[in-house]
Amino acid sequence: MTDRALRDKLSAMNAAIMGADMDPFYGAPELLIVLANKDVPTYIYDGSLVMGNLMNAAADLGIASCWIHRAKEEFESEEGKEILRSLGIAGNYEGIGHLILGYAAKENADPAPRKENYVYTV
Ligand SMILES: Cc1cc2nc3c(=O)[nH]c(=O)nc-3n(C[C@H](O)[C@H](O)[C@H](O)COP(=O)(O)O)c2cc1C
Repeated sequence: MTDRALRDKLSAMNAAIMGADMDPFYGAPELLIVLANKDVPTYIYDGSLVMGNLMNAAADLGIASCWIHRAKEEFESEEGKEILRSLGIAGNYEGIGHLILGYAAKENADPAPRKENYVYTV
């Protein structure tokens, strides 16, 4: 999404869902939104995989990204449903996530250290 007015509207909706007075998109000018078809039994996993693949694709292009939550609540609201209708998006969709995109303030930052005990090698 590159439409600034819509981005700002979604930001305000997202902040209201969170109960916070801030821009949940951290000033990022552009974002992607993943919706998934609730008729498919694995839709949450499918949509989450899309989110992860988008993050990897963005990183490959040198673009930083962050998953921003509450897309479900956003597009379950009447306002959110109206936004989808106005965009011509019709279907039994659930919002999976927003992927904000931008250039990292710190170039080539070291990755965070791997967490202990997250992987069991047996
Ligand atoms: C499902 C999901 C939702 C997330 N929602 C948000 C969010 O709303 N705001 C945010 O700043 N980061 C969000 N993140 C990013 C996480 O806070 C965190 O930065 C990221 O998962 C890296 O986790 P790690 O510290 O385990 O590496 C989300 C991540 C996931 C997987």
